[in-house]
Amino acid sequence: MGQRTKIKALLQSEQTNIEVTVKGWVRTFRNNQFIALNDGSTNNNIQVVVDFENTDPAILKRITTGAAISVVGQLVASLGKGQTVEVKATEIEVLGDSDPEKYPLQPKKHSLEFLREIAHLRFRTNTFGAIFRVRNSLSFAVHQFFQEKGFVYLHTPIITASDAEGAGETFHVTNFDLLNPPKTEDGEIDFKQDFFGRPTNLTVSGQLEGELGAMALSDIYTFGPTFRAENSNTTRHLAEFWMIEPEMAFYDLTDNMNLAEELLKYVIRYALDKNKEDIEFLSQRLEEEEKQKPQNERSDMSLLDKLQFCLDNDFERLTYTEAIDILKESTPNKKKKFQYPVEGWGTDLQSEHERYLVEKHFKKPVILTDYPKDIKAFYMRQNEPDAQGRETVRAMDILFPGIGEIVGGSQREERLDKLEQRMDEMGIPKDELWWYLDTRRFGACPHAGFGLGFERLVLFVTGMGNIRDVIPFPRFPKNAEF
Ligand code: 4AD
Ligand code: MG
Repeated sequence: MGQRTKIKALLQSEQTNIEVTVKGWVRTFRNNQFIALNDGSTNNNIQVVVDFENTDPAILKRITTGAAISVVGQLVASLGKGQTVEVKATEIEVLGDSDPEKYPLQPKKHSLEFLREIAHLRFRTNTFGAIFRVRNSLSFAVHQFFQEKGFVYLHTPIITASDAEGAGETFHVTNFDLLNPPKTEDGEIDFKQDFFGRPTNLTVSGQLEGELGAMALSDIYTFGPTFRAENSNTTRHLAEFWMIEPEMAFYDLTDNMNLAEELLKYVIRYALDKNKEDIEFLSQRLEEEEKQKPQNERSDMSLLDKLQFCLDNDFERLTYTEAIDILKESTPNKKKKFQYPVEGWGTDLQSEHERYLVEKHFKKPVILTDYPKDIKAFYMRQNEPDAQGRETVRAMDILFPGIGEIVGGSQREERLDKLEQRMDEMGIPKDELWWYLDTRRFGACPHAGFGLGFERLVLFVTGMGNIRDVIPFPRFPKNAEF
C-alpha cells in the first residue's frame, strides 16, 4: 500500500485521477456503495465509492459504522453534491471491525450528557472532533504568543507543599497506607515518615514558583495542569484544569491588563484563522441548540460574531467599587431579581453579577480591578486606603460573556513588611514560604502576573455550555472515569 494521505489534504487536492491510500473510521455506509470516512484531520468526511459487484460480500458486511478501514483507490472528481472529490475504491481492507449492534455511537444525534459517559468514543463525533482541534490550536497559539515575546516557558512543580491561593482546596499526595498511617506519640499522623517527609498536595497554581523565575528571567509563563478540590458542581469548574500563568518583572497592573487582553485576542484570532471550518460548524451547532430555547434566552449574536466582536472591541476597564455602584443601581437589583442582592461594598461578586455587567450592562468583556483586600489572596499588592478608609488590592479579573471570570491576576506585593503583615493576618505560614519571601529580601521589584483558565477559554471559543465538554476526560466530584 502507498503512503497514506490524510482526508483534509485529499479534500483540498488540486490533482485528481491519482492513486491514493486513505485510512480512517467509517461514519456511515449507504446502499452497499457509499462510505463516509473520517480520520479526524477535518470535520468533513471523504466519500469512498465501493464497486460492490466486484467486492467480496464478506468484506462489505464488515464495513460498519465505527470500523477502521484502509482504502486504496482513485481520487476522482465527484458527481455527488457537497463534495468536490471522492475515492473510487480498488482495494478495501478492514483493519478493525466494529459490531454495529454494540457500537454505542449511532449515526444520529446524541445528547452531550450521553456522550460524556462515552468520552472515550466522543472524539469520533463532529462536535468533539471540532472542539479538540480548536483546543489544540489555542494551546499552540498560547505558546507562540509568549515565545514571540521572549517569555520563558517554566515548568513549575505539580507536587508541592504549599497552597498558593490559601483557599485550602488541595488534594493530598501521600504514599501512606491510608488505613494504617504511621502515628506520632501524640497520635497524630506522622508526616515525617511520608514520602516527602512532610504533607504535600497537588498544585492549585504555579504562581509562587513562577514569581521566583520572573525575578531572574524577567518574563516567564507556565502552562500546565492544576488541581482544586472545591466541591463545585458547576458548568464552569473542574477539579483538574489547565492554567496559563505568566509572571512579569517590572510590570504594573496596567501592563498586566494590556498583556492579558492582547493574549486573549491573539489566541482567539489564531483559532479563527486556523480552525475556520470547525468554528463555523460549532457556530451552527450553537444556533441549532439556541432554537430550542425561548426567544428571550437566545443570544443575539452567533458564535462567530461573538468572537469577532471580542477582537474588535477594547475590554471595558473599571474598579470593583465602580462595578458595585452600577450593580446597586441596576434594574435586576432594584427588582430583587438577583439571588444575591447587592447591598454593600466588600462582598465578592457572584457569577450572576459578573454576567450582568458583561452581558447586559457593557455588552463586552470587562476587566475589574482593585477588589477589597479581604476577598483576595495574600500576595496581591495593597493600595492606600481610599477616602472612606476602604482597603483594596491591585487585583484584576477579566470577565467574559457567557463565561464569567476567565482570568484572575494582580500586581504582586513586593514590599516585605506589607507582605509579611498580610500573611500573618491571613494565617499563611511564613516559615514554610521562606523561599517566596526571599525574593522580597533580595532584589525585590514591582511585578505582576495572571492566570488564564484554559478550559474557560476553550469554552468561549467553541461556544459550548459545559466545561466538561472541552477537556478530553473531565475530573469533577464523583467522577474520574477514563
Ligand atoms: O483566579 P484564580 O484562582 O487565580 C490563581 O490561581 C492565580 N494564582 C493566578 C495568577 O495570578 N497567576 O484562577 C485563575 C483562573 C480563573 O480565572 C479561571 O479562569 C480558572 O483559573 N479557574 C478554573 N477553571 C476551571 N475549573 C476551576 N475549578 C477553576 N478555578 C479557577
Ligand atoms: Mg479568581
